[in-house]
Amino acid sequence: DEVQTQTHDLVLHRGFGLISGIHDPEDVEQIYDLEVRDSDVFVVTYPKSGTIWMQQILLLIEAKGDLTAISQEGNNSDLVPWIELKGNREAFIVAPSPRLRVSHLQYKFMPAALSRRKGKVIYVARNPKDVLVSYFHFHNFANMLETPKDFDDFFEKFMAARVFGGSWFEHVKTWYSHSDDMNMLFITYEEMIQDLPSVVKRISGLLGKDLTEEQLADVVKHSTFKNMKKIPQASYEQVSDDLLNHSQGRFMRKGTIGDWKNHFTVAQSERFDEAFHREMQDFPLSFIWDL
Ligand code: A3P
Repeated sequence: DEVQTQTHDLVLHRGFGLISGIHDPEDVEQIYDLEVRDSDVFVVTYPKSGTIWMQQILLLIEAKGDLTAISQEGNNSDLVPWIELKGNREAFIVAPSPRLRVSHLQYKFMPAALSRRKGKVIYVARNPKDVLVSYFHFHNFANMLETPKDFDDFFEKFMAARVFGGSWFEHVKTWYSHSDDMNMLFITYEEMIQDLPSVVKRISGLLGKDLTEEQLADVVKHSTFKNMKKIPQASYEQVSDDLLNHSQGRFMRKGTIGDWKNHFTVAQSERFDEAFHREMQDFPLSFIWDL
């Protein structure tokens, strides 16, 4: 069967590119004024930094490690939705606690109440060279995003911030600069790769969940790359073909640190390093670029 593909363009809204058909600028605009409950949890990421991994971890912590308790027909995004998707803001207002949400939005769009210590935020950052590579592959199978001509084409788009999520540098810097105003855990993808048990412990601490060692071990077990790949609702293998062209790629692609070395030319790497140095010179944390 021929799958009908659709390519939407990014629509700039206050300097931020939204995907038409998926996002509604008016909805996004009203997120800022949302009332936030203390029990609300927002996972915030730049795209391709570990969002679906964190969705699985949050659900498992809530279920005390019991995978069968979170098994369902749909996808994890039914239980931990993106707040910025069309229609999801209204659903959020009336949803019962705890409201677990993910978002790729830049700080300026998110509920102002977060900066008054309402709710909780888990920010996940990933080294941006691997983000770029993961995002390139994602553009090749996500039908709502424009398919790049080749890697060089996408490299330029990312450097010019002409992608959903905007500037990676801006995203990470701005969110991090507000971490002291919020109940926030700042976590990196690389820490999750290197020591998932300690990350899971920190998150359950933030959520006030008192899990036994065995339950914590179960959370870790059901959120490894290998195991998540086998769980359709966690890996988004069953998202409809008009959104994701499954023959061209998958969310659970490689799950490693340093894949950028297989994609970047030396010149691209140097250019990226320069930009990183310039943009992130006052940023206090460092990233792990390879293992
Ligand atoms: P790669 O494309 O580098 O493999 P997001 O969820 O923000 O879209 O990010 C997707 C990236 O997270 C993909 O990176 C995917 O493989 C990786 N990922 C998802 N679950 C993972 C897990 N359990 N362990 C390691 N990486 C994971």
